[in-house]
Amino acid sequence: MPDASPTKWHRAHTTWFFEQFLLLENDPHYQRFDERFGYLFNSYYVAVGPRHARPERGLVTRPGAHEITAYRAHVDAAVEQLLTAGHEEALQKIIPIVEMGLHHEQQHQELILTDILHAFAQNPTHPVYDGKWQMPGSQPNSAGFADVASGIHTIGHDDEGFFFDNEGPQHRVFLQPARVARNLVTNAEWFDFIAADGYATPALWLSDGWDMAKAAGWEAPGYWQKVDDEWFTMTLGGLRPVDPAAPVCHVSYYEADAFARWRGCRLPSEAEWEVTARAGALADAFGSVWQWTQSSYAPYPGYRPVAGALGEYNGKFMVNQMVLRGSSLATPEGHARVSYRNFFPPSARWQFSGLRLADDGN
Ligand SMILES: [Fe+2]
Repeated sequence: MPDASPTKWHRAHTTWFFEQFLLLENDPHYQRFDERFGYLFNSYYVAVGPRHARPERGLVTRPGAHEITAYRAHVDAAVEQLLTAGHEEALQKIIPIVEMGLHHEQQHQELILTDILHAFAQNPTHPVYDGKWQMPGSQPNSAGFADVASGIHTIGHDDEGFFFDNEGPQHRVFLQPARVARNLVTNAEWFDFIAADGYATPALWLSDGWDMAKAAGWEAPGYWQKVDDEWFTMTLGGLRPVDPAAPVCHVSYYEADAFARWRGCRLPSEAEWEVTARAGALADAFGSVWQWTQSSYAPYPGYRPVAGALGEYNGKFMVNQMVLRGSSLATPEGHARVSYRNFFPPSARWQFSGLRLADDGN
């Protein structure tokens, strides 16, 4: 699948990130492990140089996993030495890059899981990544909707601690009256959508979404399959019956949008999501499924990408993608934030993506 990468590639790429942005920039004595790795493991940094095509990462059979481990050990040793030898002034410059590299690696830790699940889901023997895997227990609030008061609200990161550049600057937004559902949409609700011919009712769908659903033959969320007339889904624990009480997962923006329309609702904007999450009104805001919002991924007022090649990290993707908020069961602990802006194309289903509903209030 063009968007997914092998585990080996993720491990080498996160290692390359430290080599490229930390060691080569700040350690004049650093010796590259292998001159060719920059080409293989640069993801999308055009300013840094040419790179291997993303859809062909799965074809890179060499270097092997053991060589990647040796590459990592080489880079780790050099990073440790740089941190130990650095005096105060140098440390002030390099510590933010180390911190960025660690957060970048956490993002790839999540992608390792989503990409393994995608690969295993293509395998008719239904491989099990972790036999003990369980969907995290949902902690539903009282049912219903949380009100968003009409007026001026503040969203975005407050500059305390680490954050990605796309989370700021903090700024004011004006919101109309709205309501955001306290709970995530469940599989039981999705069964109803399927039973009501939701996937076969064009009036519910955006035009692009309808075309996509027809072309791809979507009749249920990603990884669902019918066995003896019962829905099963591929999980990190293998093929399991769909749990009606669990949040629906592996739905695209198009499906989330169609479902919301079927329910007479809509998706929340990212500002509505953040305001209600900051107020503590949302159950399962974090640690279950990413939640699609109706907001296009665009710069906040006053947004400036960081200087240099690292400015390519977020800013250049601000078109043709939708924002997801919260975090998923695969997000590393400590990586989630109320201001965090994840983003994927509206057709993407291989992330742990679900939704909560919203409407315009009364
Ligand atoms: Fe990356």
